[in-house]
Amino acid sequence: MKAKAMLENSQTIEVEVMRRFSVESVVKETPDTYTLTLKPLDKKEYNFVPGQFNMLYAFGVGEAPISLSGDPDERHLVVHTIRVVGAVTNALVNVKKPGFIGLRGPFGSGWPLEKMKGKDVIIVAGGIGLAPLRPAIYYILKHRKEYGKFFFLYGARTPNDLLYKKELKEWKSRFDMDAFITVDAGDEKWTGNVGVVTTLFKRIKLDPDNTYALVCGPEIMMKYTVLELRNQGLTDDKIYLSMERNMKCGMRLCGRCQFGPYFVCKDGPVFSMDQINRFFGRREV
Ligand SMILES: Cc1cc2nc3c(=O)[nH]c(=O)nc-3n(C[C@H](O)[C@H](O)[C@H](O)COP(=O)(O)OP(=O)(O)OC[C@H]3O[C@@H](n4cnc5c(N)ncnc54)[C@H](O)[C@@H]3O)c2cc1C
Ligand code: FES
Repeated sequence: MKAKAMLENSQTIEVEVMRRFSVESVVKETPDTYTLTLKPLDKKEYNFVPGQFNMLYAFGVGEAPISLSGDPDERHLVVHTIRVVGAVTNALVNVKKPGFIGLRGPFGSGWPLEKMKGKDVIIVAGGIGLAPLRPAIYYILKHRKEYGKFFFLYGARTPNDLLYKKELKEWKSRFDMDAFITVDAGDEKWTGNVGVVTTLFKRIKLDPDNTYALVCGPEIMMKYTVLELRNQGLTDDKIYLSMERNMKCGMRLCGRCQFGPYFVCKDGPVFSMDQINRFFGRREV
């Protein structure tokens, strides 16, 4: 929801107004990661495109950018998957009924789902990087006939660190997608692949002229995934990554998230590799 605000220099800008959401449920995904389902107190619809994020505010603690991880067709509930790393994320997952969370958004660019229609798609996710990709998976599966082959590669550190375990099982059993899952280190019950996510590339053969790739995970994982995709012949304009940078305003005002000539909050977080090639792999540019 937008409102007009005036800057010191009398310039008028549009800002996202903070809305209050109640916490409907909190599901523990892994030892440090939780999926929150939120409901708007104003009962108005909430719309987003896969790949976008919200600024979530834990009252009295602070705000953090968190990707939308739910179904974009669900307009009355908002879903986020949050890994607890510090004060804000800890406060967000501990807000219990009848507590509230402040939410500004959605912000940023989405995955190029329209552009990819008629083409093959490969999604590669590492760890919590699956969260911003899950809405794209829901979308592609709902519009399955509009896409070609659909590959999904996912890696986590251990079986315990895999997100959305029920859905992973379902995606693996589908005949209309090729889903492969791996862990860096297995346990006594794990019978699947062991190795980093890029080891799964030997299982697939991409048609480089006809394939788009969507990638999200730690930067080191994205770096090696891009190399594998290039090895299979994909050009940088067909490889899309979601980038993370520290953020404050979420509105291209503070400069905190600057990444070369881009502001990750507004121009990203989704970029094509040919946009960011020069800056990729450098922490502060
Ligand atoms: C566009 C975008 C989307 C994001 N989506 C999600 C999401 O869906 N789920 C989720 O759990 N997190 C997501 N993050 C990361 C999340 O915003 C940070 O983890 C959060 O801001 C940390 O706040 P904190 O106060 O809990 O921890 P802090 O006290 O700020 O930080 C604790 C530790 O985490 C590190 N840290 C802080 N921010 C980041 C970051 N962005 N990346 C890596 N390490 C960081 C700090 O260096 C520090 O070591 C996203 C970030 C961006 C920019
Ligand atoms: S977070 Fe302030 S400019 Fe991007």
